[in-house]
Amino acid sequence: MSVLRGKKILLGISAGIAAYKSASLVRLFIKLGAEVKVVMTPASKDFITPLTLSTLSKNPVNSTFYEKEEENELWNNHVDLGLWADLMLIAPATANTLSKMANGTCNNLLLATYLSAKCPVYFAPAMDLDMYIHPSTTKSFQTLQSFGNILIPATSGELASGLVGKGRMAEPQDIVTFIENDILEKLPLKGKKLLLTAGPTYEAIDPVRFIGNHSSGKMGFALAEAAANLGAEIYLIAGPTNQKITNSLVHRIDVVSAEEMYTAAHTHFSKVDIAILAAAVADYKPKNIATQKIKKKEATLDIKLTPTKDILASLGEIKKQQFLVGFALETNNEIENAKGKLKRKNLDAIVLNSLQDKGAGFATDTNKITIIDSDYNEKHFELKSKVAVAKDIMDEIVLRIS
Ligand code: CTP
Repeated sequence: MSVLRGKKILLGISAGIAAYKSASLVRLFIKLGAEVKVVMTPASKDFITPLTLSTLSKNPVNSTFYEKEEENELWNNHVDLGLWADLMLIAPATANTLSKMANGTCNNLLLATYLSAKCPVYFAPAMDLDMYIHPSTTKSFQTLQSFGNILIPATSGELASGLVGKGRMAEPQDIVTFIENDILEKLPLKGKKLLLTAGPTYEAIDPVRFIGNHSSGKMGFALAEAAANLGAEIYLIAGPTNQKITNSLVHRIDVVSAEEMYTAAHTHFSKVDIAILAAAVADYKPKNIATQKIKKKEATLDIKLTPTKDILASLGEIKKQQFLVGFALETNNEIENAKGKLKRKNLDAIVLNSLQDKGAGFATDTNKITIIDSDYNEKHFELKSKVAVAKDIMDEIVLRIS
């Protein structure tokens, strides 16, 4: 899955012959699941029509500050456009547009939008070879890079003038790959490893029966997805669950019992930077597992239980660099109980769900959490989808480890 999926991309097109390639750029972004809006300089419309771009992007294309619609004049809000975008790409970026961007000129909608944009801005220059190496162009590049804008260098080849040299806009696919790699490189958990436990555990009674619980694994799997989206490599230790995940950053290790989860967690713990234990581990297991199916001979049946190992507490005892996060599912005295667990298990943070909150806890698609850190700071969140909750949890962890 591309990191551009779901991203809002604002494509700025200035007046160069490479503008004909902008149609392919829009197409590629849309295919990867991005949302695209296009803003053009008035002169670029001589090279490619707004109709082509609005059809491909499925959004209106703007090139002027206002539009005449019969009797009404509609204002194209450059501030809104600039704030809407997760990233802005100027491609092709002509020498003229780059120079104006570098100097804060804003005599067209594209330039005003650029000045309003708070998101990362990429620019892909396109011009003739002598223009490309002219000191004023080099100065524009340097100024824009000093603003934090990102240059996607032109390539060498035959130019519109018939001359051969550097100045061709990078190919659309190469521009997309460049941006994807740049985003991946800058992800906050890039290079970090994370251990996650998820789902229930099953504790065998005999060859066909077990003690289990209603945990669906949804919260843990949503956390794996959210952490992967931030660039982490994940060891996901999953109890029996129907949840699926396909992400090259996630190594899934399936286990059944608390003992197996304990062993898997200890196998991977030493190499990780973060560990989040979201599994609903059985607290007790049958003392003896019958080797044959238990027959119903007696009126009552007693099964002696013995405690399982507390995986979270055992990791708290040996943790070094790891940021260790536990979950607490409580029904009463929630904050007090969660703080007790945080201290007892030597955690860096605990995620509290209260069963008193409607929509929180097991087997639902939603959750309502409070995050408490080791300084006992409490952060309360609204009821949200487990996917949104996972993102909140990961954002809080990123804040605390960076
Ligand atoms: N946990 C664990 N291993 C266990 C039991 C729990 O790793 N054998 C982890 C859970 O994954 C969760 C946290 O401990 O992150 C809290 O589990 P919970 O059962 O709520 O806490 P307990 O300490 O078992 O306390 P109690 O059941 O009495 O509330």
